[in-house]
Amino acid sequence: MIEIAIMGHGVVGSGVAKIITGHKKRLFNNVGEEIYIKRILDLREFPDSPLADRFTKDFDLILNDVEIRVVAEVMGGIHPAYDYTKALLKAGKSVVTSNKELVAAKGAELLEIARANNVNYLFEASVGGGIPIIRPMNQCLVANDVSEISGILNGTTNFILTKMFDDGMDFDSALKLAQQLGYAERNPAADIEGHDACRKICILASLATGKHVYPKNIYTEGITRITNRDVLYAEKAGCVIKLIGNAKLLDNGMLDIYVAPMLIGKDGPLANIKGVFNGIVVNGDCTDEVMFYGKGAGSMPTASAVVADIVDSCHHLKQRRFLFWADSNNENILPHSESRTAVYLRIDSPEALPEVEKLFGEVEVIVESDELAVITGEFTVCEIYGKIDELEKSGYKVLSSIRVEAK
Ligand code: HSE
Repeated sequence: MIEIAIMGHGVVGSGVAKIITGHKKRLFNNVGEEIYIKRILDLREFPDSPLADRFTKDFDLILNDVEIRVVAEVMGGIHPAYDYTKALLKAGKSVVTSNKELVAAKGAELLEIARANNVNYLFEASVGGGIPIIRPMNQCLVANDVSEISGILNGTTNFILTKMFDDGMDFDSALKLAQQLGYAERNPAADIEGHDACRKICILASLATGKHVYPKNIYTEGITRITNRDVLYAEKAGCVIKLIGNAKLLDNGMLDIYVAPMLIGKDGPLANIKGVFNGIVVNGDCTDEVMFYGKGAGSMPTASAVVADIVDSCHHLKQRRFLFWADSNNENILPHSESRTAVYLRIDSPEALPEVEKLFGEVEVIVESDELAVITGEFTVCEIYGKIDELEKSGYKVLSSIRVEAK
């Protein structure tokens, strides 16, 4: 029997307990021993749970129990998860987690502590919920130089944008529904402002480059400014709007990495990823494009990935899985002002067109009614800001500006 503990009994933690108890036989057959949940850490009471006798509020009962070899940290947030994880790794226990905030903020340090203590720190569930992506990138694609990762990495925002495009729903009702369905973070700002997607693209970029990419250094824009007009105009342009996390290794060695809403052509690989589903395209020099698709949020899909890491840790109690990146000062990250993109602009008057053409050259006109909507050629972000400033000095108002995927 291998004894484990689960820290957190929320959306993900309760799913982990459910899978481990409900799929006992299947897991036994794989591991060769029973995985036994000895403790569940949570500040709340769960008197009706079939595991009610295993709950504790005392972290030390887990830390000091030498029989507990693997701990699932599914509490979320940095504190106290960070201190708990450090203490557990130092005590020789493997830790698996769905906590993308912690991995993105402290991954290099925690991986180093795991290495020094010859234990595992695994985080398959931190990106893409139920989609296998960390292990495939770390193992199956290891032969490749990865040149670009592009993904829909947040289920809540993809659910909201899908509802806006397909059902004409307004932003607030769609967000409320996503929260009711258990997709959104406790504080939905992390979803709708793009921070959750940012943490995930940082984890993937860290894995691909071998150097920790810190979210604080990454340009991050959410979907709160997308209006129903933008939805309408994007459709007229043959596009959808998706919140994209993108990391691209440029020829000069710099990493162009950002999170932003983007207009993408309806035929593109990510365009038809709908609802809470996530999609990630990884471009390797040997494989070319490889795409991953599945449910990126929700209790059971995310718990499935956590349990896979528990099983992997059980198989490797005395051996470390190679999963590592080094700390970095992020000097290799391209300043966002130098990132190049085409841009969709929505302007308050159709009379702005001559001025727009003077500043941006030839543009694709999407709408010329009470407003003007265009798609420009490619410029750096700094040039785009400068031109928007000039346009506004001429008396026009730019109501929206959204990146457009390169054709
Ligand atoms: N709030 C996240 C999402 C949950 O919507 O994708 C999974 O990380």
